[in-house]
Amino acid sequence: MQPRCGVSVCHVLMLVLCLSAAEDFDWTKNNHGSFYYGTFPTFSWGAGGSAYQTEGAWDKDGKGLSIWDVFSHKKGKIQLNDTGDSSCESYYKIKDDISLMKEIRLNHYRFSISWPRIIPTGVKDHVNGKGIQYYDELIDHLLENHITPIVTLYHWDLPQQVLQEKYGGWQNISMVNHFNDFANLCFEKFGDRVKHWITFNNPWSVAVEGYETGEHAPGLKLRGTGAYRAAHHIIKAHAKVWHTYDTQWRGKQKLVGISLSGDWGEPVDISNQKDIEAAERYVQFYLGWFATPIFHGDYPQVMKDFVRKSVQQGLGTSRLPAFSSQEKSYIKGTCDFLGIGHFTTRYITHRNDPTGRSSNSYFTDRDLAELVDPRWPDPGSEWLYSVPWGFRRLLNFVKTQYGNPMIYVTENGVSEKMMCTELCDEWRIQYYKDYINEMLKAIRDGVNVKGYTAWSLLDKFEWDEGYSERFGLYYVDFRNKNKPRYPKASVQFYKRIISSNGFPNQREVENWRRKAVEMCSSSNQLLAAEQRSTAANILRLIHPLTSHMEMVTEIVVPTVCTLSILISAVLLMFLLRRRN
Ligand code: NOJ
Repeated sequence: MQPRCGVSVCHVLMLVLCLSAAEDFDWTKNNHGSFYYGTFPTFSWGAGGSAYQTEGAWDKDGKGLSIWDVFSHKKGKIQLNDTGDSSCESYYKIKDDISLMKEIRLNHYRFSISWPRIIPTGVKDHVNGKGIQYYDELIDHLLENHITPIVTLYHWDLPQQVLQEKYGGWQNISMVNHFNDFANLCFEKFGDRVKHWITFNNPWSVAVEGYETGEHAPGLKLRGTGAYRAAHHIIKAHAKVWHTYDTQWRGKQKLVGISLSGDWGEPVDISNQKDIEAAERYVQFYLGWFATPIFHGDYPQVMKDFVRKSVQQGLGTSRLPAFSSQEKSYIKGTCDFLGIGHFTTRYITHRNDPTGRSSNSYFTDRDLAELVDPRWPDPGSEWLYSVPWGFRRLLNFVKTQYGNPMIYVTENGVSEKMMCTELCDEWRIQYYKDYINEMLKAIRDGVNVKGYTAWSLLDKFEWDEGYSERFGLYYVDFRNKNKPRYPKASVQFYKRIISSNGFPNQREVENWRRKAVEMCSSSNQLLAAEQRSTAANILRLIHPLTSHMEMVTEIVVPTVCTLSILISAVLLMFLLRRRN
């Protein structure tokens, strides 16, 4: 009896240890700390963009339609009804863009492959040779210039025909096989040169904004169910592609990961257990929704518990789909590295159904409210507050929750408003400086971060915000049909961080900032001059019209006025005479 008991106690202990591994993160210890001067371990510095946001050439060289082509062409979906039709025209500017990357001395460039550019209908009946050729050239030029390609397979541009129209997109389980065919084609065509693959970019947005709120393509509002179903299929598709790679391509090639986005959630009151639990729910419903199945095989327990409210709502079964036990073991461990896209933080407090709506929705399932500190800077996008310490907290959370995986930061950056043509972006310098510093502190905490991707290389199409928000290190003049690029001051600053592989000392870092701002004023003048000449050209184009207008205002109007006065005077005299 004794030994048996010993074994079972040991098992119980192990189980408790395993279960509590997820509780290692210390919610009560938020150490803001001061700026840390030091360098990074062996590290890859990069910048990124994505196909629909930058390529343009939406209907060129045999490309099929994506859900974003269709969505952006519908009136009222995008700010100012902008589209990605031409965007930065990066499809035609491979060499130009690579010289910008060389200027910063990037180690890697993150881009995505447009599925309908290489498989126009989405189903592998026809492969578009010109699309393959474009990505071949991009990859070859990057490698010739010693820039490592990090390639995303799905950055939201699902083929419209067949996959969206016939099958309903990510609501349909058949997407798993279609995505696997597409990924397999990419491994076959480009895998001899690409060693870092990302299956999905930010599946949270695909699920929530594409199928719950409808703010993104395909614009469906399937509240309370659509997002969970889309995510379920995306997780399965990710796992399948990882296995395909692992069994068929791994021998000769390298890493497959996924890029998850996660805002950080900080308890409003760290002495209040309910707030701590709410903050954890916020993070679990965001990052954990995808990361927990991939690292541990199933959804976070807290999601299962909170979406299960749907059973109480009389639905009989949870709106959160369930994985079978075979699926759990198939999905668990399908990640060679974790991509993290991070921009901002929220304070979180517990609140039942914060909107007061009793109906089902992803948002109300979480039972919490999000708050922001009005002192946090927010230079651009409405949702993006600069809170650098949240980044370190998130990275440490990933370390404790998922067994310290290899991390590549796949997106981090800040925007400014469209009308702002200010190249001296001191607020972006500040953002990068502080966020990158928090990442360095996280590495010192033991988080396994291997690379960082500034988001983004260029200003570009910002989804439902159109061109109204600029994230680029380089300013793009979208009004000029050549889409010229101009360096913002942050280019110089980021370049210094890269060449020093960190922050050497306060004096030097302060010097970088000063020089970057000095240099940008000449780029500012150049841009202003270009814009004046564009404006003059526009005026010249409409010259016949303006000269006509001049004729109207300078000749016709005074003549008519004078004539009217004369006629009135004559009439008046005539009337007066008759009276007398
Ligand atoms: C995340 C998306 O992946 C990216 O495409 C977008 O530009 C950034 N968020 C900023 O909104």
